Amino acid sequence: MRAATPPPFLDPAAEVRLEPLDATRLDAVLHIEQRAYSHPWTRGNFLDGLRAGYHMRVLVAGEASAQTVLGYYIVMQGVAEAHLLNITVAPEHRGHGWARLMLDALVLWARGVPAQPPLETLWLEVRASNQRAIQVYEAQGYRRMGLRKDYYPDGHGRREDALVMSLSLAAVAPAPRDHAQAPL
Ligand SMILES: CC(C)(COP(=O)(O)OP(=O)(O)OC[C@H]1O[C@@H](n2cnc3c(N)ncnc32)[C@H](O)[C@@H]1OP(=O)(O)O)[C@@H](O)C(=O)NCCC(=O)NCCS
Repeated sequence: MRAATPPPFLDPAAEVRLEPLDATRLDAVLHIEQRAYSHPWTRGNFLDGLRAGYHMRVLVAGEASAQTVLGYYIVMQGVAEAHLLNITVAPEHRGHGWARLMLDALVLWARGVPAQPPLETLWLEVRASNQRAIQVYEAQGYRRMGLRKDYYPDGHGRREDALVMSLSLAAVAPAPRDHAQAPL
């Protein structure tokens, strides 16, 4: 278990919350994205996501005047399923549970989003070499479903396999409580 010290530059009293990832956040998001990946999403990729109406959230700490973006995630909703396209935590804020928090929030969103039929499954792809992310996903209940051969560029003119993972929403959380009947 890691010590519960606050990450650098983060006021331990700062309120942390999820907010829409809109165009005003793109500079901060791109600053993280470019440090996180060998093949980062471009500004155009994020703008395409906004135009397509993807579910896009930033995790921020602090008040509007001095906010720190800790991370973000982007989800494409499909029929009875949703695909996690991007989840990233700023390098200086990793290892403090922020990815776990965002993955929990994703499950809550998926269970509550009005969809007919309701969402049943979350899917994602991850580089087969990305052990840290795979560990995070498995700790959250995602299962390995298969490999997509040569899915990602690896930067040396070669390709890298993607591990396909999924989470059954029915398997991870109880049905929402009926608050009208819940004891006080
Ligand atoms: C993968 C990533 C999102 C994880 O974010 P994070 O905020 O550091 O993850 P968390 O702190 O929520 O960690 C959750 C779990 O991950 C594992 N983990 C986190 N940090 C770890 C570390 N330093 N060493 C080993 N395992 C670690 C642990 O299982 C941890 O569970 P615990 O809190 O019970 O110890 C982050 O490393 C990242 O943005 N990486 C680059 C982008 C990326 O690869 N995204 C995924 C693309 S598919």
